[in-house]
Amino acid sequence: MTEPTPRAPLAERALAQRVLAVPPSGIRRFFDIAATMQNVISLGVGEPDFDTPREIIEAGVESLREGRTHYTSNYGTIELRRALSDHLFRLYGVRYNPANEILITVGASEAVDLALRATCDPGDEVILHEPSYVAYVPAVVFAGGTVVHVPTRFEDDFALDPAVVEAAITPKTKGLFLGYPANPTGAVLTDAQQDALADIARRHDLIVYSDEIYDRLVYGDYRHRAFSSLPGMFERTILMGGFSKAYAMTGWRVGWLCAPAHLLEGIVKIHQYGIMSAPSVAQDAALVAITGGEAAVETMRAEYDRRRRLLVDGLNRLGLATFEPLGAFYAFPNITSTGLTSDEFVERLIQEEAVACVPGTAFGPSGEGHVRMCYATSYEKLEEALGRIERFLGRLKAERAS
Ligand SMILES: Cc1ncc(COP(=O)(O)O)c(C=O)c1O
Repeated sequence: MTEPTPRAPLAERALAQRVLAVPPSGIRRFFDIAATMQNVISLGVGEPDFDTPREIIEAGVESLREGRTHYTSNYGTIELRRALSDHLFRLYGVRYNPANEILITVGASEAVDLALRATCDPGDEVILHEPSYVAYVPAVVFAGGTVVHVPTRFEDDFALDPAVVEAAITPKTKGLFLGYPANPTGAVLTDAQQDALADIARRHDLIVYSDEIYDRLVYGDYRHRAFSSLPGMFERTILMGGFSKAYAMTGWRVGWLCAPAHLLEGIVKIHQYGIMSAPSVAQDAALVAITGGEAAVETMRAEYDRRRRLLVDGLNRLGLATFEPLGAFYAFPNITSTGLTSDEFVERLIQEEAVACVPGTAFGPSGEGHVRMCYATSYEKLEEALGRIERFLGRLKAERAS
């Protein structure tokens, strides 16, 4: 028997460096505080307050009753892939082959993870705008890649400047990650910005990872375009989306990833070995969502729009300058006038007025001075929240004056 090599105790080296490098989600911390309090109005979690529309639930129930309780194809059911192919073609004019260019995933979350794990080698750089959704940085790091942040700022309406993106490119850049409409800012990409980014991707031969989960939740005159529908982008774009937000299906855990066949072939391997297939019941429900859910999507979108106007106008009226979000369901007020940091603001607002929101820093360094408030909660609760925020701001003002 050979003597074991002396090394540090297992507890000190069990977790991989890339896992240790990622902090826990900055969103969850405040949920734990909220969970211990009564009468909390939560503007924290990014999920619809609506239940899944009835006909979609019925489709799920029916699926189970019919005994459709087995694994599906690794790619997802062919019915859902066909319907999704038609859906994306109808909305955006981009056609994916249901046989080998569409993968049904466990939410857009899995799609993001797969896209990066399938394409990043150690040392590869991925350019990412920030502030942006909390899962993007960990997904790159877990994949062994390196994030290169490109800031967006309140002063520029959180617009992503293509020139700044281009300046961040190095010989190690593998791709550009875009999450638009954006969580947490609600910013969207204009056609001109998209065209310029597409031009950069073409010239520098980059992959474009495009998380478009909020594609259906846009407001005013804004019209979403799928990034892969732009000239020359199909071949290099990994398009990701899902049912959670537009169809109020967060708990069903179903989403999608579309990519040209040569990329999808590799991506499917990770899904195949790690997941097998998305839940069969959720896929059957999603089929009804995509084929018959349009009216429900529009009803919910119109209601989010009403709430968006209430919250954004209300925050601006209270002196918290808030950029007008054109997509998703978040407001991202600037709270610097209070003299508090994002963390302090969130901590005090929940302790003193039982309103939960998320510090902007959870989404990247440029989020300092902001907090994220989700308006996928009832109009009445938003009115009440605004009243509480007004009282809170009044108290802060009085404190500063004394
Ligand atoms: C931008 C963005 N992408 C992906 C997700 C994850 O969505 P899913 O429920 O489809 O995994 C979220 C959820 O908040 C999100 O905001």
